[in-house]
Amino acid sequence: MIKIKNLTRSFNSHVAVDSISLDIPKGAMYGFLGPNGAGKTTTLRMLMGLLNPTSGSATVDGIDVTADPVAVRARVGYLPDEIFLYDYLTGYQFLEFLADVHNVPAEEKSARIGSLLELFGMTGVAGDYTANYSFGMKKKIALAGIVIHSPPLLILDEPFNGLDPQASRDFRVLLEQMVKSGTTVIFSSHVLEVVEKLVTHAGIISKGKICVSATIDSLIASYGSLEKAFFTLTT
Ligand SMILES: Nc1ncnc2c1ncn2[C@@H]1O[C@H](COP(=O)(O)OP(=O)(O)OP(=O)(O)O)[C@@H](O)[C@H]1O
Ligand SMILES: [Mg+2]
Repeated sequence: MIKIKNLTRSFNSHVAVDSISLDIPKGAMYGFLGPNGAGKTTTLRMLMGLLNPTSGSATVDGIDVTADPVAVRARVGYLPDEIFLYDYLTGYQFLEFLADVHNVPAEEKSARIGSLLELFGMTGVAGDYTANYSFGMKKKIALAGIVIHSPPLLILDEPFNGLDPQASRDFRVLLEQMVKSGTTVIFSSHVLEVVEKLVTHAGIISKGKICVSATIDSLIASYGSLEKAFFTLTT
C-alpha cells in the first residue's frame, strides 16, 4: 500500500528524514514510533504530498506522492499533528461538509454522521461551533471527519494524544474494525503499550533513520516487548 524508497528531507543543513525505505502492506496496522524530532511528522507529511522530498520517492497505492498528490489525498484519511477545523461550522456541519467533499451518498450521509457522533460521544454538542470545542473534542470531530468516507488508507499523526480513555478505546475499536474490513492504517504514537496491543507492524525511526520495521510478533520475539525494542534501538 505504501512503498518508500530512499526518502530524504533536509531543512537547510539539517537532515530530518535520512534516506528511509519502508514497505507497508495492504491491510496493515502500522505503528510509526520514534523520539521527539525523529522525523515522523516530516515523513507522514511527505506521504501526503504536503512537503516535497529533497530526494527519494514514495508511492501510495501505486501513485507517486510527488507526481500526483491530489490523487493520493483522495484515497487517504489524514489526521495532521495540528488539527484544522472551520470555526464557523458546527460539528455536524463540519462532518456534513466532509461527507459532501468525499461524495458520501446522500442516503447514507446522516446515518454515517450520526453513528460517528455517537461513537465519539459528541451527539449532544454536534450543534455547537467547533471554535468552542475543547482540544479533545476538536480531535474527535477531526477523526470522525477523516473516516466519514471509509478511505482505504488512514495516515494519522498522534491520533490518541489528547483523547480521554473512553474515546481512545472507542477509536481503537473503530480502527480495528476498519483494518478487519481491509483498510490500511499508519499512525505515529508515543504510547508504546497502546501501540503494542493494536498494531500488526511497527517501525522505529531515530534521528531520521529507520532502526527497524517488522511485524509486532517478530519485534516482541526479538526484544521481549516494544518498549524494550524502542529503548534498545533509540538510546
Ligand atoms: N518546517 C520545518 N523547518 C525546519 N525544521 C523542521 C521543519 N519541520 C521539521 N523540522 C525538523 O525536522 C526534525 C524532525 O521533525 P518532525 O516534526 O518530523 O519530528 P517528529 O518525529 O514528528 O517529532 P514529535 O514526536 O515531536 O512529533 C526536527 O529536528 C525538526 O526540528
Ligand atoms: Mg510529530
